[in-house]
Amino acid sequence: ARITLRQLLDHAAEQSYGVPAFNINNMEQGLAIMEAARACNAPVIMQASRGARSYAGDIMLSRMIDALTEMYPEIPLCMHQDHGNNEATCMTAIRHGFTSVMMDGSLEADMKTPASYEYNVAITERVSRMAHWVGASVEGELGVLGSLESGEAAAEDGSGAEGKLSQDQLLTDPDQAVDFVMRTRVDALAIACGTSHGAYKFSRKPTGDILAMNVIEEIHAKLPDTHLVMHGSSSVPQDLQDVINEFGGEMPQTFGVPVEEIVRGIRHGVRKVNIDTDCRMAMASQFRKVATEKPQEFDPRKFLKPAMDAMEKLCRHRFEAFATAGNASKI
Ligand code: G3H
Ligand code: 13P
Ligand code: NA
Ligand code: ZN
Repeated sequence: ARITLRQLLDHAAEQSYGVPAFNINNMEQGLAIMEAARACNAPVIMQASRGARSYAGDIMLSRMIDALTEMYPEIPLCMHQDHGNNEATCMTAIRHGFTSVMMDGSLEADMKTPASYEYNVAITERVSRMAHWVGASVEGELGVLGSLESGEAAAEDGSGAEGKLSQDQLLTDPDQAVDFVMRTRVDALAIACGTSHGAYKFSRKPTGDILAMNVIEEIHAKLPDTHLVMHGSSSVPQDLQDVINEFGGEMPQTFGVPVEEIVRGIRHGVRKVNIDTDCRMAMASQFRKVATEKPQEFDPRKFLKPAMDAMEKLCRHRFEAFATAGNASKI
């Protein structure tokens, strides 16, 4: 059955677990997530980016969600807009059956200027009001996703920030977070703690100086009733990097967010954990493997089935690690 983000994360907070939010663009990713959820008795957050909506089409995506709720009736399913950029993106998502939207007002600019902060508050508050009228949930974002190693804002953020940003500019300010949540009434708050989108987050296994989990603890201490969201939370597993490179890929060595750091975040108010890159890598590793080992193969299903199986396994691991597993039937 369909569920809102608010209902799901309230349960997660009561029971102290986290929920991975997996990005989807197609049927195979949707099936992989739902099969993993069924195997683990886990509730699901699926999210579509603006890019996913234009890739699959809104009607296709919305009918896919209808199909998945009918095929897996025992699994609570929240369909969420990832990184909505304005009111129209968020409202059209809700109209297509999404139960939750992210209004990312941090996309626009360097958030430490008063004008860009006020812009974020105003647009997020408007979306929050409209979404709540019709029973949908809202995620806002405060801070700039970006690397504390390089000082660069994450490219996918489309950030208007020029040049290098300081630690202080990148990380979410806990006092500002309190003001932001109070004024916008968001159901969940995405924070910046040194993670970035994509595979190339860290040049070494992250330590506290480049992955600022302490910021999460500080925000949670000031906002104990706000559900926190970690973006850029792929772990970029070494074994997937190795399979991709073994079969002709050229991924330079890189490091993601260790699962144990996410688990630590979950102990301090993190309830939604955004993961896209790991799922892409799981699928791509199998595309490469099949293409290399069976050069005569041209049936897409022979590529897509192993890819789905690899993604399902990845999803099951995250449901288990975040203690999402076992909760679908309790909601
Ligand atoms: O926000 C980043 C997500 O990984 C979605 O990526 O915009 O390429 O679909 P995308
Ligand atoms: P990753 O690139 O780490 O998977 O992050 C995804 C994300 O934050 C989507 O909003
Ligand atoms: Na989101
Ligand atoms: Zn994100």
